[in-house]
Amino acid sequence: MTDPQAVVLNETIQKENPAVYAMLSERGKQIFFPKMGILAQSAQAKGKDINATIGEAVADNGKSMYLPEFDNYLKLEVENIFPYAPSFGKPELRALWKQFIYKKNPSLGSQTMSLPIATNGLTHAISMAGYMFANEGDSVLIPDLFWENYDLIFNKSYGATISTFNSFSNNGFDVAAFAQAMAQVKGNKIITLLNFPNNPTGYTPTVAEAEQIQQAILQEAEKGKQIVVIIDDAYFGLVYEQGVFMESIFTKLCNLHSNVLAVKLDGPTKEDYVWGFRVGFMSYGIKNGSAALYEALEAKTAGAVRGNISNINVNST
Ligand SMILES: Cc1ncc(COP(=O)(O)O)c(C=O)c1O
Repeated sequence: MTDPQAVVLNETIQKENPAVYAMLSERGKQIFFPKMGILAQSAQAKGKDINATIGEAVADNGKSMYLPEFDNYLKLEVENIFPYAPSFGKPELRALWKQFIYKKNPSLGSQTMSLPIATNGLTHAISMAGYMFANEGDSVLIPDLFWENYDLIFNKSYGATISTFNSFSNNGFDVAAFAQAMAQVKGNKIITLLNFPNNPTGYTPTVAEAEQIQQAILQEAEKGKQIVVIIDDAYFGLVYEQGVFMESIFTKLCNLHSNVLAVKLDGPTKEDYVWGFRVGFMSYGIKNGSAALYEALEAKTAGAVRGNISNINVNST
């Protein structure tokens, strides 16, 4: 039976945009971020003389209890190292990353998107996207030259099928093959994943191709298809040639059509050369996306994070 807390989120999503509800996997429909139980009790206990609700040791000064030997190695504030971070990610970190997205993608302008949810690197963000949207038996459309981990995530973990289409024709992205592959998907829901610059080829579409990709997706959306576009921006910014699309393809999709949900996965791993930090983000954009819709999707995503890894290990901004 669906938990009443998930029902509330599902009803919100259905009311705000029924197409988005139809895109959710069964797992995505069941998941919620718990507001009752231990988290509610912790909130109630805040500021009380005795707080016996949460599994963290606190010293008499109210800060985390920790072994003094750490003082020799760590320079950050105690409260930025030892306590749990929220499953959503620290609010300051989420706000800062969203600010970066707008700064690095000027054509986003005043278009709206969700706040990013913090994940344990992009790999985990891809897995959370699979959790939210991929049912067993769904197909995930990907160009035929792709990062092999997509298979471990979508197929081996979630039971979806990877369907590929030809990556290139005439020295460019094969938009026709992409359009044809989308048109051939059975049923109303299409899940596709775009990764630019692409691993393994390094390819990023030209400005004209980015527009053609946008049009191909729009065409399917106008036919009534509900399309989840997962955007793996792991190598965002590593673009140097004239005429190549410099921004994330998210900018072309996040306000395209109310049947197109753009799911942006990004993070500092390769953008900022911090491979071992294990920080990533998952953000949503859809035409006419309301605050209520985004908050419900964020709550579900944070619930999925909580049920997998609890929270990421970065507390500090
Ligand atoms: C296309 C692509 N996406 C995602 C990742 C993983 O990123 P992260 O290390 O943040 O999990 C890689 C790493 O090689 C990659 O090539």
